[in-house]
Amino acid sequence: MKKQIHLNGFVQHSPSPHSTGLWSYKQHEGHRHNRLAYWEEIARILEQGKFDALFFADVIGTYSVYQNSYEPAVTNAVQIPAHDPLLVISALAASTQHIGFAVTVSTTYSQPYFLARQLSTLDHLTEGRVGWNIVTSYLESEAVNLGLERRLPKHVRYDRADEFLEVVYKLWEHSWEDDAVVLDRKNRVFADPSKVHLINHHGSYFDVPGPHLVEPSPQRTPVLFQAGASPRGQRFAAKHAEAVFIKSHSLESLKNYVQNIRNLVEEQGRDPHSVLIFPLILPIVGSTEEEAHRKYEELKNHVSYEGTLALLSGHTGIDFSKFDPDQYIEDMETEAVQGNLNLYTKDPTRKWTLREAVMNHGLGNGTVKFVGTPEQIADQIEQWAVEGDVDGFNIAHAHSPGTFQEFVEYVVPELQQRGIYRTEYEAVTLRENMFGKGRRFLQEDHPAKQIQVATNS
Ligand SMILES: Cc1cc2nc3c(=O)[nH]c(=O)nc-3n(C[C@H](O)[C@H](O)[C@H](O)COP(=O)(O)O)c2cc1C
Repeated sequence: MKKQIHLNGFVQHSPSPHSTGLWSYKQHEGHRHNRLAYWEEIARILEQGKFDALFFADVIGTYSVYQNSYEPAVTNAVQIPAHDPLLVISALAASTQHIGFAVTVSTTYSQPYFLARQLSTLDHLTEGRVGWNIVTSYLESEAVNLGLERRLPKHVRYDRADEFLEVVYKLWEHSWEDDAVVLDRKNRVFADPSKVHLINHHGSYFDVPGPHLVEPSPQRTPVLFQAGASPRGQRFAAKHAEAVFIKSHSLESLKNYVQNIRNLVEEQGRDPHSVLIFPLILPIVGSTEEEAHRKYEELKNHVSYEGTLALLSGHTGIDFSKFDPDQYIEDMETEAVQGNLNLYTKDPTRKWTLREAVMNHGLGNGTVKFVGTPEQIADQIEQWAVEGDVDGFNIAHAHSPGTFQEFVEYVVPELQQRGIYRTEYEAVTLRENMFGKGRRFLQEDHPAKQIQVATNS
């Protein structure tokens, strides 16, 4: 059997989150992001295309590093407005049957007891179709609005995230036994308290006695996604993630990343191929190669240069208003998103000037663009999947829902015809659709399963 690939749709609850300025493009309907009907339409399109999940990125602050001001971001709708992604999910579950919903929530600004309850509730309401993108957050503007004087140093954010995960694992996996709910009407016992345990967590960041507030949900732990790119971020992903995201614009840099992640996963005592890897791609489809390239040029003309400077400055934590647009950007480290900086400063294939980086970053958040006919795009997908040793792709959009519509209408049938992509969903839960029928829960070699809990009973 040929290698099978998986697909996710990459979105954010904002008008044109990953293609800056494209809200002004005539076919883009991102201004309708505040309407449920907009999300229902996207979810239905992706479900028709048999995607594993609709993946919601999220930030909870403004992009105000550039010129030390939030105004360029507001003018150009650079991930502002930024509405809450969790709140649309149960409604979308009601209008779909199979597609999963992966949502980004920060371990730096949430509480594990609270988030464990939210995600367990959603896992019940979606009947096991929820995933969590674990982020530690990178914007200073998030910190100052959420109770901190400054953004925490990256290593502290990851230390907190590690402990955060220990707490939620205890709540999800070790608090309620499978048969705790007995629903015994005759003896008037709803649940057996001897099967609902305290978790007694006492650590450096959290003290959570428990028990968990929610009875066991279909997947218990939601599917865990992560996208750390710094050395610490990659070690964190290798320890916790079941799926990782990567932004890359060359097959060569992708290969380096994938090799490294698989080695790190193995060092954690986990099967290196038990973690699925999804590069982000922006497909631009045409009925001919020329038409696709014409479309690409047209889309580029709608990118906002100033807006993208604000986006890139926020992503990297570097105020690029102080740079000459024609200078090369190289050799920089950041406390923000190292992966975004690496795209331009550590590209093994070429050097980037700031202007070139901005023009690239404005479409699909700087990720690789697959431009061409459905056959050419399917060729590239197959090549990256096989040579890059990845398990699937996160599909970004330039305009929405148009990019998704075109991809599902023209590229998905091509992938199906090649026998590398499903024609039907295999199962009900997100984890099973991603990993195979029968895999409803975390693998036994996952650290959540190894935890010992000092329970009450
Ligand atoms: C494809 C992709 C999607 C991401 N989505 C988000 C997001 O929605 N919210 C967020 O705060 N960080 C997001 N990140 C950032 C990372 O998860 C991580 O927090 C960040 O890269 C900082 O850590 P690092 O320097 O270890 O990579 C994303 C990264 C990638 C590559």
